[in-house]
Amino acid sequence: MIAAKNINITKVERSKLNDINLENIPFGKYFTDHMLEVDYEDGEWKQVEIKPYQPLLLDPSVAAIHYGQSIFEGIKAYKNTNGEAFIFRPLDNYKRFNISAERMEMPQVPEDIFMEGMRLLVSLDNNWIPQQSDHALYIRPFMFSCDHMIGVRPSDKYKFMIILSPSGPYYTTPMRIYVEEEYVRAVPGGVGYAKAAGNYGAAMHPTAEAKKRGYDQVLWTDAFEHKYVQECGTMNVFFIIGNKAITPGLDSGTILAGVTRDSVIAVLKDMGVEVEERRLSIDEIIEAHKSGQLQEVFGTGTAATISLIKELRYKDYVMHFDVDTWKSGPYIKETLNGIRYGSLLDRHGWMEKI
Ligand code: COI
Repeated sequence: MIAAKNINITKVERSKLNDINLENIPFGKYFTDHMLEVDYEDGEWKQVEIKPYQPLLLDPSVAAIHYGQSIFEGIKAYKNTNGEAFIFRPLDNYKRFNISAERMEMPQVPEDIFMEGMRLLVSLDNNWIPQQSDHALYIRPFMFSCDHMIGVRPSDKYKFMIILSPSGPYYTTPMRIYVEEEYVRAVPGGVGYAKAAGNYGAAMHPTAEAKKRGYDQVLWTDAFEHKYVQECGTMNVFFIIGNKAITPGLDSGTILAGVTRDSVIAVLKDMGVEVEERRLSIDEIIEAHKSGQLQEVFGTGTAATISLIKELRYKDYVMHFDVDTWKSGPYIKETLNGIRYGSLLDRHGWMEKI
């Protein structure tokens, strides 16, 4: 672990918190007093700095802007009713961050910088953690290439940063989802499993088209047949069919290995529900809907939490759901919230106290 003395801390003179109301705060719009910044140069990570949140001064030729060598993570910190602060499964996000880094030919971020830096930053700004239900302090670690050059090659210089945003829910109401069969998010051998910035940039046009049709997000399908479902724009997806829960498997490398996805699988198993991680075709989903076996559909993600899906459209076939009658999705959400806000026992050891 990096000793606190190895991180330079410069505190703000006056907290912005006095000017912000954390109640019903929107997702990702406000940022706390401090941020973490560290540069990678000459093959090593330099001095880690925690300093007042401020704009960056970047050269216009900085490589990440031109070629998108940029990755990120999303993690949340919560406060329980005793006012103690916890981070949800941060080590899992740390590991995924370095998997993304490897795919994007970026340096590995050492565990002490990522984990201890995050703990210090969150404890410094812990007054910013909202305590309202469905609210949290969203932690955004990210890294981007920093060489000043127009040539296409991996940089020698990188910047790793963490910023914090007190946030309410990403989606506030049950969602309408459009099954995408023209555009593609990921192919085997591609970057679908990485949390690469470009994955999200490339999704914006298809998502905007789905929005024009009245939908909140797309559900991606495989690139070859547009037959097997993958994930939604900002979340993994689960289907309750009969007495089983089915979610697309991770084996083709086209799906982000969501930490919330993994937690939901564990909660479902705790509930005694059989979980299948496998290929799931849109035909199987439609068959299950027609036979009355498709009971629930929901998305899972750090930002999205558990987002119930009230409508799923594939071509002209529209599936409407009465989410008010659902049991599993709402129960899982309540269980995860109970663990996060401290009213339920954390039997999986997911909450890391800071
Ligand atoms: C997250 O759930 O943390 C995400 O990164 C999804 C989105 C906000 C990009």
